[in-house]
Amino acid sequence: MLSIQGVTIGFDGQVAVDNVSFDVGDGDIVVLLGPSGCGKSTLLRAIAGLQPLDSGRILRGGVDICGRAPHERGIGMMFQDHALFPHRDVGRNVEFGLRMKGMGAEQRHDRVLAMLQLVGLAGFERRTVGNLSGGEAQRVALARALAPEPDLLLLDEPLGSLDRELRDRLVAELPDVLHRVGISAIHVTHDHDEAFAMADEIVVMGEGRVLQKGQPMDVWRRPASETVARFLGHRNIIEAGGHRAVVLPDAATVVDPGDGRSIDYVVIATRFRGGSREVEVERVDTGQRLVFLLAGAPPIGDRVALVIDPDGISPIE
Ligand SMILES: Nc1ncnc2c1ncn2[C@@H]1O[C@H](COP(=O)(O)OP(=O)(O)OP(=O)(O)O)[C@@H](O)[C@H]1O
Ligand SMILES: [Mg+2]
Repeated sequence: MLSIQGVTIGFDGQVAVDNVSFDVGDGDIVVLLGPSGCGKSTLLRAIAGLQPLDSGRILRGGVDICGRAPHERGIGMMFQDHALFPHRDVGRNVEFGLRMKGMGAEQRHDRVLAMLQLVGLAGFERRTVGNLSGGEAQRVALARALAPEPDLLLLDEPLGSLDRELRDRLVAELPDVLHRVGISAIHVTHDHDEAFAMADEIVVMGEGRVLQKGQPMDVWRRPASETVARFLGHRNIIEAGGHRAVVLPDAATVVDPGDGRSIDYVVIATRFRGGSREVEVERVDTGQRLVFLLAGAPPIGDRVALVIDPDGISPIE
């Protein structure tokens, strides 16, 4: 177990990481989700031992590791800028950590091939890293970070510059690989779909602070604030009885117009999203607009009677 306790880091009088606390259970993938500049990379660098803390503690198995040098922490890291070794070919880059561990040549070779296969770069071992595309370099960096199977892996936007197809494949496969080997990971992203697809636990950050943490489904269904709700991709933020609330996109059901509990809406837009159809509707009496995932995909201009499940309405600050 890794425990981040009250970590604070400032630069030139500006606080970049502000009293951040969360735990990473053994074998868990914790996704750090937050906008650009909120302190994600700074926090990862601190955990890796590359950035001193102003205050707070970082414990592994109950022991404070802040005094340990980076190479004494048993932590693997994939940097946001990849930081490949420019004078070594792809294979040599990937096997770097294996050599450090003293693994034999044959085993190293097998592991390198398996890692390159995983990231879709089979046959790239002898390529020089200088002329790789951005997405290829990123995948070499990911393979290099995974290869030594560290107990804890820090991944700073590892899928950032990949095309959609490749990214979707790795979003699906990476958690399996990490879980199979039993690697705990902190995975940084600002993409909420990626976060929900990969996380055992989500930590939402904003302006250096933890805004909310918890299991992905709980965080999604019960966002603590409007900032979190918007950052998670919620579109239905409403005023209800003087309070603000989020209406979940799966909260509405189409019913017969005569149904006593229903409210009338008009369909004003529809679009495909993630294989299902999102329908934007406008409430006939108040003009309030909401977006739902609706079965049956009613056409634009149609009136629909909707029942909204009260459990799908979540109050926020
Ligand atoms: N070495 C440094 N010296 C001064 N300021 C820094 C340094 N490193 C980071 N910062 C500042 O600290 C804040 C947090 O930066 P950080 O790189 O951790 O953000 P981030 O969440 O990783 O953003 P992104 O999603 O864009 O990568 C930013 O305002 C940044 O400008
Ligand atoms: Mg960053």
